[in-house]
Amino acid sequence: MHENVKDYYGKQLNSSDDLKTTACCDASQVPDWLKPLLNNIHPEVLSRYYGCGLVCPPLLKGCRVLDLGSGSGRDVYALAQLVGSTGSVIGVDMTEEQLEVAERHRGYHADKFGFDNVRFVQGYIERLGELDLEPQSFDVIVSNCVVNLSPDKAAVLAGVQHLLKPGGEFYFSDVYADRRVPNAVRDDPVLYGECLGGALYWNDFLRLANQAGFVDSRLVDDRPLAITDPALVPRVGNLRFFSATYRLFKIAGLENACEDHGQAVVYRGTIPEHAHRFDLDKHHAIEAGRVFPVCGNTYRMLHESRFAPHFGFIGDFSRHFGIFAGCGDNLPFDKKRDSESTSACC
Ligand SMILES: C[S@@+](CC[C@H](N)C(=O)[O-])C[C@H]1O[C@@H](n2cnc3c(N)ncnc32)[C@H](O)[C@@H]1O
Repeated sequence: MHENVKDYYGKQLNSSDDLKTTACCDASQVPDWLKPLLNNIHPEVLSRYYGCGLVCPPLLKGCRVLDLGSGSGRDVYALAQLVGSTGSVIGVDMTEEQLEVAERHRGYHADKFGFDNVRFVQGYIERLGELDLEPQSFDVIVSNCVVNLSPDKAAVLAGVQHLLKPGGEFYFSDVYADRRVPNAVRDDPVLYGECLGGALYWNDFLRLANQAGFVDSRLVDDRPLAITDPALVPRVGNLRFFSATYRLFKIAGLENACEDHGQAVVYRGTIPEHAHRFDLDKHHAIEAGRVFPVCGNTYRMLHESRFAPHFGFIGDFSRHFGIFAGCGDNLPFDKKRDSESTSACC
């Protein structure tokens, strides 16, 4: 499987335009604050972007970040600006041609930014232990449309768990299916290369994440994907695919359900670019200055991560009031958006 994927991203694709599912890249979905950062990135790097979401969580200044499947480096170079000269970003990818593009433009970006805080490493994301990366040394690990391509997703999650600092997070965008992908779809090299064949059924992903110690995965954003290439439509049948961004905190003590301990948080409005509201995830839009009731898991995610200085905390774990209302097990993704997307990337 690795060789097929390497061939796809190293030899068959030369730019986002070559994707057969019109899979890249709608500039209208890039938030305004990110646009100036992307303007600093070399055009060749941008033209070989194959991601499916945004992997730039807030509050990265000074962070040590790892990008799994960094490709030609668009996200690495965007993150390099966000972490600044006191932070660093490492990109891991297995495909030489992708790494060559990323590496060739390092000097260009160092000149633009005024510092060189990036490094690219060749390797497999399911064998992170073989790379010279210190355990528990990363504040944030990101990945953009890559985990679906891995033949061993459990090993990827285990490696991420090993490399994150306590309180760190895996913040990543990927493609998911509304049901288990049948073998015929998985074995189709084009559908696999296009990030559909290897997509996990969303509930299997949540189980795998749980098994790797990432309890209570939080969905940040999602959008439905439509297959627009008529030749691929009959091969996919009734499967529905979604691009989704999850954040998985490495925090001991998270529970597999949202429990109510009568706690609340108050957002101070101090996270840059988020003066009025902080969105922890799709279901937690926390307004500045308002007492916001939270379950024990949300309390811990804010209290035991880099977000803690930006919140006031009310309550503790000494009392329990039962399950926190509103936790559910249904398909977590929105089936429609105002403008239903037709691409796997943004
Ligand atoms: C869809 S592209 C995304 C690239 C990049 N994240 C971006 O947003 O442009 C997938 C990338 O993941 C890399 N990749 C796929 N499977 C991998 C694996 N098992 N180990 C390391 N890299 C992998 C490919 O070489 C390719 O560069």
